[in-house]
Formats: sequence, C-alpha cells, structure tokens
Amino acid sequence: MSQIENVLHENRHFPPPRDFAAKARLGREEDYQRMYKASLEKPDEFWGRIGRELPWMQPFTKVLDWSNAPFAKWFVGGKLNASAVCLDQHVLGPRAHKRAIVWEGEPGDTRTLTYAELHMEVCRFANVLKARGVKKGDRIAIYMPMIPEAAIAMLACARIGAAHSVVFGGFAAHALRERILDGGCTAVITADGSFRRGAVQALKPQVDEAVQGLAQVHTVLVVQRAKNPVDWVKGRDVWYHDLGSQVSVECAPEAMDSEDLLFLLYTSGSTGKPKGIVHTTGGYMVGAYLTTQYVFDLRDEDVFWCTADVGWVTGHTYIVYGPLANGATLVMYEGAPNAPHQGRFWELIDKHRVSVFYTAPTAIRTFMRWGDDVPARYDLSSLRLLGSVGEPINPEAWMWYHRTIGRERCPIVDTWWQTETGSILITPLPGVTSTQPGSATRPFFGIEPAIVDEHGTELGPNQGGYLVLKRPWPSMLRGIWGNEERFKEGYWKKYPGWYFTGDGARKDEKGFYWILGRVDDVINVSGHRLSTMEVESALVAHAQVVEAAVVGRPDAMTGQAICAFVTVGKGETPDDALREALKEHVAHEIGKLARPAEIRFTDALPKTRSGKIMRRLLRDIAAGVETVGDTSTLEDYTILARLRHDED
Ligand code: WT7
Repeated sequence: MSQIENVLHENRHFPPPRDFAAKARLGREEDYQRMYKASLEKPDEFWGRIGRELPWMQPFTKVLDWSNAPFAKWFVGGKLNASAVCLDQHVLGPRAHKRAIVWEGEPGDTRTLTYAELHMEVCRFANVLKARGVKKGDRIAIYMPMIPEAAIAMLACARIGAAHSVVFGGFAAHALRERILDGGCTAVITADGSFRRGAVQALKPQVDEAVQGLAQVHTVLVVQRAKNPVDWVKGRDVWYHDLGSQVSVECAPEAMDSEDLLFLLYTSGSTGKPKGIVHTTGGYMVGAYLTTQYVFDLRDEDVFWCTADVGWVTGHTYIVYGPLANGATLVMYEGAPNAPHQGRFWELIDKHRVSVFYTAPTAIRTFMRWGDDVPARYDLSSLRLLGSVGEPINPEAWMWYHRTIGRERCPIVDTWWQTETGSILITPLPGVTSTQPGSATRPFFGIEPAIVDEHGTELGPNQGGYLVLKRPWPSMLRGIWGNEERFKEGYWKKYPGWYFTGDGARKDEKGFYWILGRVDDVINVSGHRLSTMEVESALVAHAQVVEAAVVGRPDAMTGQAICAFVTVGKGETPDDALREALKEHVAHEIGKLARPAEIRFTDALPKTRSGKIMRRLLRDIAAGVETVGDTSTLEDYTILARLRHDED
C-alpha cells in the first residue's frame, strides 16, 4: 500500500464555513455524534423512523431481518413503489409544478420537466412497456444516452415492477450482449443515437449486434434523439414516439414488496465475468433518500447536478432515485465537458444556477489541465457545495476544486461508496465535518467500518489494511444475479459476518478514513471499475495474440490506466501497427473506456507454479517501480528481468 505516503503528511483542515453550517440541515458536531450513536445503538429505531418518511403503500412490520445473513431483508412486509416515491408524493403536494429535471442537450437544446410532467411521461412510458407485454418481474436492459428518457425509462420499469439493467452507453455490443444474456433481459430500451463532441454517436447498431439471434429479446424500444438512420427489424423494433402517442398518461404504480428487485447493475470483479449487483426496493430507496438529503444538504431551492452517466450507480442513486425521492431539481447533461468548448460545465452551472455539484476526481484533474482561466470566465457564485466520487481524490486536485471551483466558499464532500453499497457510506457531512484533502472522513449513519489485517484483526491508527463493514445497511446489495456462491465468496467469506469492500484504507487517530484504492486486480479508470479479465479476454480473442495480462498503472489524469502485457503468436510481428490494432480492438470489444493506454509485448508472463499470472509483479513493472514483494512463488525467475529489459 505504497499510496499511504502521499497522504500521510496531509494536515490541512477545512472546517465548514460558518454561514454554511448555520443554515445546514446538520450544523453541529453534537448533532452528528448523537445521530450516529443512535443509529448504531438503536438501529431498528433509527432506520424505522427514517424508513417511515417514505410513502409506503403498506407499512413494514420489521426493520431488519438478518437471520439469513448475508441475505438481508430490510423493512420487512412493507410495500412501496420507487417511482411513486420519486413522483406521486410530490405531484400530490406543493412540488407538482416544481422543476424536476432540467436537461441540456449537447447542441444546446434544453428541456425542463416539472414533477407533474415527469409523472405523466413516466406513466406514458410505463404504458408503452405494458403494451409490449413487459410485466412485473421482467428484466429490461436500458442502453441510453443522457437524455430525460433514460431516467423516464428507469422509473417506468420501476412503476410496473420490472427491474432495469442499465448498461453504460459507452460499452460495445459484446459487453451489452453479455449483460443482456446474464440478466435474462426480455426487452432493450435504447435510442437512435446522441450527440457527443459535435457528432452523432449511434447506439442502435450496437443493440442490433448485441441482440442478434437472441430469442429472449422480444422488443427493442427506440427513443428518437439524433434522427440518424437506423436499421429496423420488423416486429421486434418499435419507435417510442409511435406507441407513446397511443397510450394513456395514467398508470397506477405496482405495489412492490420491500425486497422485490428494483434493478441489476453490472460491475467488474477481479475474476470471471461481470457481476449483476442486485438491489431491491425498500432499503435502496431509504439509503438513496437519506444520503442525498444529508450529504448534499438538499433543500427545495437547490439545483443539484451530478455529472455521472446513468449507466453507473452514481447516476442511479444521485441523478434519479435520491434527488427525485427528495423532490429536488436536478440538472442532466447529454454531452462531453469540452463540447463545444472547455468551459461547458461552468457555463451550465452559471446558466442554471447550480448550487450543489457532484463530479469525479478524473474530471477534476482534466479541468485542472485545461487551466484556471476557463472556469474564471463564469459566474459560479450559485455553488454552495461540491462533491467528489469514484476514486481517491489526490490532495492537489482537492485543493484546485476548493479554490478554483468552490472559490474557497464551498465545503467538499469526498464520498466513498460502491455499486454494491447502493449509496454513500463514508463521507463528510458538509455542515459539521472539518474536511481534509484526500480523506472521505467519517462513516454515515448506521455504518460501522473497520480496518483489519489479513486475519481480521483490527489495526491501529494509520495502519493500512482492508476496509470492512461490520453490520448490514439498508441499501446494501442483496446478491449477485444468478450466483449466490460468488456473492458469499466475494464479500462475506474472508471475514465471516462482515462485508469485505475490496478496498484498502487506513483510519487516522481522529477516526477519519483515507481510502487507498482497490486491493484486488480490478482497475479503476476514471472512477470506473474495469475487470482485468474482460480486457484480457478481449485481447486473447484477437487472432495474433496468444496470451495477455492486464494491470493498472498510476495515471495522473484517469487515476489508473490500463497497461497490457501481450504475447503474440509464432511468426507474428510485435510492432506499433499491431499495438494500435490491439488498442482499437479492445475499444471495439468493450468500449473506449477500456482502451489500453499501453501495450507491452513480451515472450512470456510471470506465473506461479499453479499458472496464476502474478499481476502484482506486472503492476510494479508497469508503474516502473522496484518489486519489493515476495517473488518466491514465481515459476521462472528470468521473466522479471526480461520484462524490465523490454522497457528500454
Ligand atoms: C470503488 C467502487 C461509487 C460510485 C462510483 C464507483 C472507489 C469510490 C471513492 C472515494 C476513494 C473511491 C473504491 C470503491 N471509490 N469512491 N470517494 N474515495 N475511492 O463505483 O464502480 O462500484 O467502484 O471506487 O475503490 O471500491 P464502483
């Protein structure tokens, strides 16, 4: 855990600005202490009280059933509907004509949907799904650009009790197909295309390729956005606008059991195929609702912008479910941050008077590189709170964010969580926590983390170890779709009774957590987990490749970058042309995000006697550092020297 070094010496503190604390939902340290204590000492009472703030169709009778651990049941016996939590409760009250979604297309077109309008559009979409035979219990893939219909489609699925499985629009056909197959999805919701960096980026061709020959998919529902030409399979493909104009805009929400599936979201594990993380209705909604309220200190006047894509969990929880459950106004943007110019984000903040802004360290580092004069051209005085998520934020980026975007007025919440955790678990509370650059600070209500060694012994202050969570929480994953074993193995077996996060961290003497990153083979590129295995299998699928091992190496912009060690077949020429071809191949197979930054050709890979590739060694080589770890299990010692030699 060599990353410990760069943060160890961090001793700057940023207490919440006095006027921020004065108006905050939680503005006094004693209040945090009292609530945190209550959440741990009387969890049933705490979560029961919060849970009852949601509009249930049938009240729950028990807060938590942990008797069948690690399979938790939260808010047992309760019935609710996630789309009704997000919409109906507001439409019936004073927020009916409040703006729910303020959307901006990349070309500059805009759309605003009030809660009443969004409610109508979600009902319409739900009725279209019904008309196509989609019913409660089905799984529906959503492969969409960042247009309001992405959120509408998610909520429409939730409304009729179908689970959504959103697949990031940047993934290639192969990755989409694999996720459709694994989830048993029976329909795909997509768009013709969208606008990205001034050009049309088509989506429909990837869907066509992904569902080719799949009998399980009866419908491809296409939203028209970019008006680019598309291929059409009669009977299977339908335009959303054709059906949408024929159905009613009323649709009663399905009463879902608290533990009914709300969505699947695929994330990468260190080995094997992507995991379909299972999230159910009641607990997830409670987590999304409460964290949005406290971490972002949301109030009715706020305009909240989370820049994530709906294809990631951040988009699920902090674009759709959390903000809408709280009746907030949110901003959604279709395009790239540098289209048509590098000031686009700041221009949008200025234009829409965004008050709470949530983005990722990789984006912040990019903005830093573009220069201070870009944001300086805009009025950012509407901002009052900034957030960060996805990977450890380096203190330099934190300070830049604080000074150049927050203009030293706005607290920063560095929020730690995972696809599996459903909502933010370790985070400052902006009105009470004195923040430090690089630390996600303290646990949220009801969360009990610990830092342990290999054997589960708790470590002392500032000792780097594994981050575990010692008790269940409402928005926790309920499993891995179709793979109970992998769920138990991956998260609960290493430390029985505790959830293993897969992250390394240390806790300082004040009890602040400093996340050090993943401890397994997963690579975190721009805040998104990619599996080494997926990239490797794409590489070996290439005709000229025999073997490949992929590791992450530190990268100033993207956090980690992909470095691939590749062995080519006999008679092949490992040259620059092949290098480029392989990068292109991976981008095509998995998506641009997975494009290797570097390809190194080698005649062999370091392996253990049992044939396991020693990625730890490759990581050191890729990072250009000496290997200090144990190499005694290495089968062929000469390989290391040869790999290093190949660098020159
Ligand atoms: C992994 C989860 C949670 C939404 C985005 C990523 C890393 C996330 C932080 C943070 C340090 C962070 C962890 C985590 N991570 N937030 N604030 N500080 N690391 O979701 O793809 O499920 O990845 O992202 O390593 O385990 P994900």
